Amino acid sequence: MGDKIEFLSLQKINAGYTREYLGVLSKILEDGWYILGKNVNEFEKEYASFSRTGFCVGVANGLDALILSLRSLEIGQGDEVIVPSNTYIASWLAISQVGAIPVPVEPRIDTYNLNPDLIEAAITPATKAVMAVNLYGQAAELGKIKKICNKHKIYLVEDNAQSQGATCEGLFTGSFGIINATSFYPGKNLGALGDAGAITTNDEDIAEKIKIFRNYGSRVKYFNEVRGYNSRLDELQAGFLRIKLQHLKEENIYRQRCSDKYHELLQSIEGLILPVLAEACTSVQHIFLVRTDRRNELQKYLASHNIGTMIHYPVPPHLQTAYKELGYKKGDFPVAEIIAETCLSLPMGTHLSMEEIEFVAREIACFFKIQ
Ligand SMILES: Cc1ncc(COP(=O)(O)O)c(C=O)c1O
Repeated sequence: MGDKIEFLSLQKINAGYTREYLGVLSKILEDGWYILGKNVNEFEKEYASFSRTGFCVGVANGLDALILSLRSLEIGQGDEVIVPSNTYIASWLAISQVGAIPVPVEPRIDTYNLNPDLIEAAITPATKAVMAVNLYGQAAELGKIKKICNKHKIYLVEDNAQSQGATCEGLFTGSFGIINATSFYPGKNLGALGDAGAITTNDEDIAEKIKIFRNYGSRVKYFNEVRGYNSRLDELQAGFLRIKLQHLKEENIYRQRCSDKYHELLQSIEGLILPVLAEACTSVQHIFLVRTDRRNELQKYLASHNIGTMIHYPVPPHLQTAYKELGYKKGDFPVAEIIAETCLSLPMGTHLSMEEIEFVAREIACFFKIQ
């Protein structure tokens, strides 16, 4: 295996769609309509149908999708939002950006998703919502979390940036919350060729609010009802996403094959922890994350054998400088911390051949045998 095995290759992933992408570009050039047009309208319908929700509204990126979601629920100053202690920083940032307080709750150490058993203890009179993140491609235990939210009359908001197409109890992620945010950042399972995001919801009023927020707070040009944002999904990205969406199911199936192969070849290695699915949950294998106490050594070894890996994520949000005012210290969220210290993401995606997956697995086996 001479060439480098890349952690991710957007060049390879997108190469097969070049002709169709160019078709979208030339049609847009012909039409001369770049913002909020036919592609955005059609993509919104198609993605709502994919998610089995009534409505989808395209926005500029996933962080904005989360911020606008919280604003549409009038969550703001002094409100508390429960959020996983081990998520990507964007989930926390959205809560802070609307003036609310992120209240971290630990994940399960086997699935890496929010532990439903710990949520109720974190609920206070100031709690307005739980932000459940479907991390690494796997649906959080959304059915159980929704029941807790209903019992306490607080909102469920999904951060579905990493899991387009995953399911819980047979229903798609992005359909459980009162409003759900997603990201089409290029490396996501459904990735654009630039920044892009969306919300999905079954509530028509909420969808309408997001449409107003994303466009300067205006329904009719130059008449502003609220102080909004400029956060629109653009026509070109929507056109590209329409093409990618047609192939998402088959791409997710291929990712599952890669994951099955990793499980088959790595399951008997002592000292290596493989990802686990929660009951009734599926994963679209956005990130194939293994854990070992020898993470840094393993990463170095794989790099020396031309295999790219990543760490998702090296520092949990409560220990980031950006959140030092919250006063957390090391040891406050030990599950998130142990994940950060031991996790390693292996190459995963449609840019890889099965032979390459086998090669990665063989090299990992070698590392544990010889070192
Ligand atoms: C879990 C999670 N939430 C939110 C985001 C934010 O998405 P974006 O980068 O499109 O703003 C991302 C991706 O980067 C993410 O992984």
